[in-house]
Amino acid sequence: MTKESASTTRFGLIGTGRITRRLVADIQSTSGCEVTAVASRTMERAQWCASQYAIAEAVQGYENLLSRDDVDAVYLSLPPSLHRQWCVAAAEAGKSILCEKPLAMNSAEVAQINDACRQHGVRWLDATGWLHHPRTAAFADLIRGGRLGTVRHISVAISFFEPFQSGEHRLQRELGGGCVLDLGWYACGVARFAFGKPCRDVMATAVYRGDVPIRCTAVLRFDDDLSATISCGYDTATRKWFEIAGSDASLICDDFSRPWPDKPARCWIHDASGKVDQLDFEGHQEIRMIETLIGEDDLASLHAQAIDTQAMVDAINRSLETSSAQEPTSCI
Ligand SMILES: NC(=O)c1ccc[n+]([C@@H]2O[C@H](COP(=O)([O-])OP(=O)(O)OC[C@H]3O[C@@H](n4cnc5c(N)ncnc54)[C@H](OP(=O)(O)O)[C@@H]3O)[C@@H](O)[C@H]2O)c1
Repeated sequence: MTKESASTTRFGLIGTGRITRRLVADIQSTSGCEVTAVASRTMERAQWCASQYAIAEAVQGYENLLSRDDVDAVYLSLPPSLHRQWCVAAAEAGKSILCEKPLAMNSAEVAQINDACRQHGVRWLDATGWLHHPRTAAFADLIRGGRLGTVRHISVAISFFEPFQSGEHRLQRELGGGCVLDLGWYACGVARFAFGKPCRDVMATAVYRGDVPIRCTAVLRFDDDLSATISCGYDTATRKWFEIAGSDASLICDDFSRPWPDKPARCWIHDASGKVDQLDFEGHQEIRMIETLIGEDDLASLHAQAIDTQAMVDAINRSLETSSAQEPTSCI
């Protein structure tokens, strides 16, 4: 059965790791989607995942999933070093792509993914769920609607306390390990989203384990005297918060990347007199993200967000390597 003859988008999963096991239920719960196949490096693992999540086909080898006719779209959740290779292969196979963050190791790889998708007429999204929560549109209205006055500074903190398993890719540089690609992606994304443009330059410092940064602090300067500070890492308890500071009030959120379990998504507006308004929101960010991928809306602004975010992450990495301020350079 081809996509044209089906009303359903049939997803294939590439990889069977932790985040796949969370997102599979979201794909299966999204109207107009089903998961038809899962691929792993080993048949044993593919079969385990297929039986666990009621997926019809277990496939050994990612390339064998891409050649299937019963797969229209892929969800790719591999270590970052493998994103470019398998996104390009998926584009060449004509499959829509939902790729985990960070989109790639660097901006040059993002350009290759974008080019391949463009060439083959394939829709792609990075799986940065928070951008799709209905609350995020409300953030934009608050920032641009004047409630905060003129927005001048942003601070973002995102971390978790290292629940690492043996062989963890986050501690292996060659696999794209380290907190900058993993969590700096979110922090840079907030600043890019709020200011609507990439930073002008960035100065960063980090604490390392072996050759990967496990805690990073960075100062980002933007045109028009705008600024941001970001903190990300693996050695403090879970933080996923930001402050967007304006001349009249601050917008504060303590769960931006994913709402806390069993709580509504929330944020607060603190004004100069100490008055605090709490805003709560409904909505499921991952389901909306999947709906966006399989829908027909133009993805250009989400692509620009991802491309700029990767360029800012690259600049942090270069700043760490050179101990100097670095400018983001997009390859697109
Ligand atoms: N959006 C989010 O909220 C979120 C949350 C966590 C992670 N992520 C992102 O998702 C991606 C995967 O993270 P994860 O925590 O799910 O990783 P994980 O649990 O380690 O899973 C990664 C999967 O990649 C496959 N793989 C292929 N080559 C590998 C290699 N050399 N080493 C390790 N795994 C390899 C494995 O699947 P097979 O063995 O079955 O082939 C493995 O299960 C990363 O880019 C991460 O940043 C996103």
